[in-house]
Amino acid sequence: MNIPKLFNLAGRAALVTGSSRGIGRAIALGLAEYGATVAVHGTKPAKVLDETLADVRKLSPRSVAVTGDLSQPEVSARLVADAISALGALDILVANASVQIRKPWVEVTQAEAEQQMQVNVHATLRMIQAAVPAMRAKKWGRILTIGSVQQQRPHPDMVVYAASKSAQENLVRNLAKQLGPDGITINNLAPGVILTDRNVPVLADGAYADRVRSIIPLRSFGETEDCVGAALLLCSDAGRYITGVDLLVDGGMALP
Ligand SMILES: NC(=O)c1ccc[n+]([C@@H]2O[C@H](COP(=O)([O-])OP(=O)(O)OC[C@H]3O[C@@H](n4cnc5c(N)ncnc54)[C@H](OP(=O)(O)O)[C@@H]3O)[C@@H](O)[C@H]2O)c1
Repeated sequence: MNIPKLFNLAGRAALVTGSSRGIGRAIALGLAEYGATVAVHGTKPAKVLDETLADVRKLSPRSVAVTGDLSQPEVSARLVADAISALGALDILVANASVQIRKPWVEVTQAEAEQQMQVNVHATLRMIQAAVPAMRAKKWGRILTIGSVQQQRPHPDMVVYAASKSAQENLVRNLAKQLGPDGITINNLAPGVILTDRNVPVLADGAYADRVRSIIPLRSFGETEDCVGAALLLCSDAGRYITGVDLLVDGGMALP
C-alpha cells in the first residue's frame, strides 16, 4: 500500500471558508502542501487574506481568494459558485468560518442568536447543497465541518455557539448516510482551545488561562497546525472509509 499517495491531493480543488486566519489558514496551507488547488476565503478583501493567499500560492500556484460575509444568507451558495468558477471544480469543502459571541445566556439578543445560527449552521447547509452536485458528478467528494469541543463541553457564556456546533454535527451524521452512496464523505473536526485571534483577549487573563489549561489532560492549548493532520486524513483518500465521524482535536478536553 502506498500511504503517501493516499494523502496526495494533486488535481483536487478545495474551498476553505474562514481561511484568512487561524485554523482555516493552517488547513488551507496543509491542503495546498499536499497538492490541492485552494480557494481561500475571508469576509472581505483584506491584507491578512492577501498574505494567506500569497503563502498558499507558494505551495499551490493556481490557488485563488474568494470573499463574502456568511451572515448574509445569499452569500453561501454564491461563495461555492465563485470557487467552482475560479478553480474549475470543487472536490473538497471545509466549512470552517464561524461566529462566536461570548456573553451570559440571558443577555443574548435575537439578532446575536440568529447571526451565530446563520453562519455556523444555515450557511454550512447551503454551501453543502451548492457543492454536492459537482462532487456527485465525479463520485468523489470530501466535506469537513469544523465543530468544537463545546458540542460536548458547552461554555456557559457561549450557549448559542455551542448549540450551533451540536446542530452542525448532527447535520454531518444525517448527511453521511445520504451522501455515502455517491462517494462523498462528510465529517466534523472538533477543536478544543486552539491559539487563534479569537482567544487572545480571554487567554490574556492568566488566571483564566491556567484554569482552562488545568482541565485539558495534555495540559496545553493547541496550535493551529495541530488540526491539519486530522483535516488531511478526512479530506483525502486516506480517509475514504471514514464518514459521519466527529473527530476531537482537543488534547482530551472533552473527557468527563
Ligand atoms: N480557536 C479555537 O480555540 C476554536 C475552538 C473550537 C472550535 N473552533 C472553530 O474553529 C473554526 C476556526 O476558528 P479560528 O479560531 O481559527 O477563527 P478565527 O481565527 O477567529 O478566524 C475566523 C475566520 O472566519 C472568518 N469569518 C468570521 N466571521 C465570518 C462571517 N460572518 N462570514 C464569513 N467568514 C467569517 C474570518 O474572516 P476575516 O478574516 O475576514 O474576519 C476568519 O477567516 C471556527 O469554526 C471555530 O468555531 C475554534
